[in-house]
Amino acid sequence: MSQPSSITIRRPDDWHVHLRDGPMLAACAVHTARQFARAIIMPNLVPPVTKVAEAAAYRDRIRKAIPADLQFEPLMTCYLTDGADPVELARGKKEGVWVAAKLYPAHATTNSAHGVTSMDRVAKGLEAMEKAGMPLLVHGEVTDPDVDIFDREAVFLDKVLFPLLKRHPGLKIVLEHITTREGVAFVEAHPDRMGGTITPHHLSYNRNAIFKGGIRPHFYCLPIAKREEHRLALRRAATSGNPAFFLGTDTAPHSTDTKECACGCAGIFNAPVAMQVYAQVFAEEGKLDRLEAFASLNGPRFYGLPANEEKVTLRAATLDAPETVEVPGLSPGLAKTITVFRPDTPVGWSF
Ligand code: NCD
Ligand code: ZN
Repeated sequence: MSQPSSITIRRPDDWHVHLRDGPMLAACAVHTARQFARAIIMPNLVPPVTKVAEAAAYRDRIRKAIPADLQFEPLMTCYLTDGADPVELARGKKEGVWVAAKLYPAHATTNSAHGVTSMDRVAKGLEAMEKAGMPLLVHGEVTDPDVDIFDREAVFLDKVLFPLLKRHPGLKIVLEHITTREGVAFVEAHPDRMGGTITPHHLSYNRNAIFKGGIRPHFYCLPIAKREEHRLALRRAATSGNPAFFLGTDTAPHSTDTKECACGCAGIFNAPVAMQVYAQVFAEEGKLDRLEAFASLNGPRFYGLPANEEKVTLRAATLDAPETVEVPGLSPGLAKTITVFRPDTPVGWSF
């Protein structure tokens, strides 16, 4: 089947983004805003965003970091901690500041030291969210060091997520950055209550890539990429047309030196190439006609928001994106960069 040489879709949104703060925010925000009209902003700053006033102030800083010629709406989230305040959650939703709240199991990933240690400790907060119609966004990995890193998502589904769905029957939940066929099946099994986001990187490589010819830190993120069978399950889910699956890049910038070292950070910066990589995946699957649903329709539908009216066009062309992005002012006197994600396989789309 011949591929179209371009595809026009409604402007997409990104339902999982780390924009950071300060010099990193200044360097990164534009790359997300060039591609996406709206984004769900992760609250894992140091310290985390737990109060309505902090989220509103962070939202202002993000808006200031976006060039005036770009239209971009940051959608803010609350970082859940043990004892999360139900009143603060409900108030922030009512005031139009929070769109959702984020559950990081304590120590699951970057900047999650303040995360939740037991679901009992957030039960009151989750009840308030059920009442307020505020979705819960989940980093779905157990943190028990006895559980193999490649099994942490699947174990989380059985041990934590299934009981959580039962305990809070009114709560809508997004299983973020799904990496396993078990994650796909779990979302499919709860279509009225669950969404699942899928990243460009988990669609484009499996765990072998992390170790191909040596250890390659720019392929390391959490949840870690799994076996090929799981990548194939993700590709099927993303391109299936099932409205429960939608776009979330999990773009997570770290400076190149903090990735390329003895204990490198987890996180992949894919914002400048996100739509190009998604288009490549959908083209390879012969499902470009379903890209718009995944990127621009299913997410708004889950969140009860209108789809964007503006149209954008992706073209079949050699990828045109920087290999690194500079971060002025990150470390006085030192030129710091962020390395941009690039799959090993060719990307034949430009945006
Ligand atoms: C994220 C980060 O760097 O903030 N890292 C990552 O590997 N994805 C945190 C997260 O989403 O897990
Ligand atoms: Zn993330």
